[in-house]
Amino acid sequence: ATALAQQRHLAIPYGAAIRDGVIAEDPLYAQAVIDYCQVVVGEGNLKWGTVQPERGTFDFQLADDLLAFATKNGMEMRGHCLVWYAGNPDWVETIASAEEARTEMVRHIETVMGHYKGRVRSWDVVNEPIADAPTTGAVYRDSVWLKHLGPEYADLALRTAAAVDPEAQLVINDYDFEQSSDKGRAKRKAFLDMVRGLQSRDVPLHAVGLQGHIQGQIPIDKPGLTAFVAELASMGLSVLVTELDVIDNLLPGAELERDGIIAQRAKDYLDAIAAAKRPDMVLTWGITDKHTWVPIWFSRDDGLPNRPLPLDADYKPKALMDVIQDFC
Ligand code: XIL
Repeated sequence: ATALAQQRHLAIPYGAAIRDGVIAEDPLYAQAVIDYCQVVVGEGNLKWGTVQPERGTFDFQLADDLLAFATKNGMEMRGHCLVWYAGNPDWVETIASAEEARTEMVRHIETVMGHYKGRVRSWDVVNEPIADAPTTGAVYRDSVWLKHLGPEYADLALRTAAAVDPEAQLVINDYDFEQSSDKGRAKRKAFLDMVRGLQSRDVPLHAVGLQGHIQGQIPIDKPGLTAFVAELASMGLSVLVTELDVIDNLLPGAELERDGIIAQRAKDYLDAIAAAKRPDMVLTWGITDKHTWVPIWFSRDDGLPNRPLPLDADYKPKALMDVIQDFC
């Protein structure tokens, strides 16, 4: 089956995060992914807790299944993610020394990236390294890795990844860059400081993942976001939009009005990025409102269903899909 997306010759590949098991259970979901996507990423299939639930025991079944689906349908699969503060099994959280942290991180990256070498090209090596409200300099998010290895845990992760697969695109992925508040400004600054530090130590890094979990009630800081991406581009980095969705718990209830605001926010976001550099690819964090993480974290007080994604719960494209297709 040739993906509609390929027939459309999208200049920028579009894709979505795929929830484990749903492709097998829901034929409409599988068909929507085939119809629209050139890229997929597992919403959880490569997180540490899934892939290495017990020390030294690796389980690639879910990610192998998605890769087989992607390959069969002419799509690429991204890898998400190798090192993160969350998504870890209990045994990782009990790591007790720098030496143990180093040994386990290296083994995990070598085994997981090694398994997909030559088959998964683009990897979120470090996910969400910056704290939510950084104030001065590079303020790293607390994690088992930071605790034992300090901020240079990212150096170790990226150097290890580059050694395992020199062809891979190594990405650091984070969120809130589009926020206009002090929060957004501080996050951008802390992130740039981190990248400058990595580059000054000759740590391999190819791209930045802009997650794009947009808070719908806040207008996009277009100048701030454009300047941020321009700075990344001047440092020789590519950008990817990795997890786009518009969180709509604080938006008006009426569907048409809400979908309009959601589409406008996403357009502002993508345009602000492209004003500095065209992203390598654009992925939404899910494809249909039927299967999305948003209601678990950001449910609406009025009880109406969330509508953060390009297709509604009946797989009908919404204004957000038009924005993405126009952009890509
Ligand atoms: C989320 C998943 O969507 C949820 O199903 C899971 O319970 C928690 O993780 N940023 C990321 C993603 O990098 O890995 C997160 O995914 C969403 C925020």
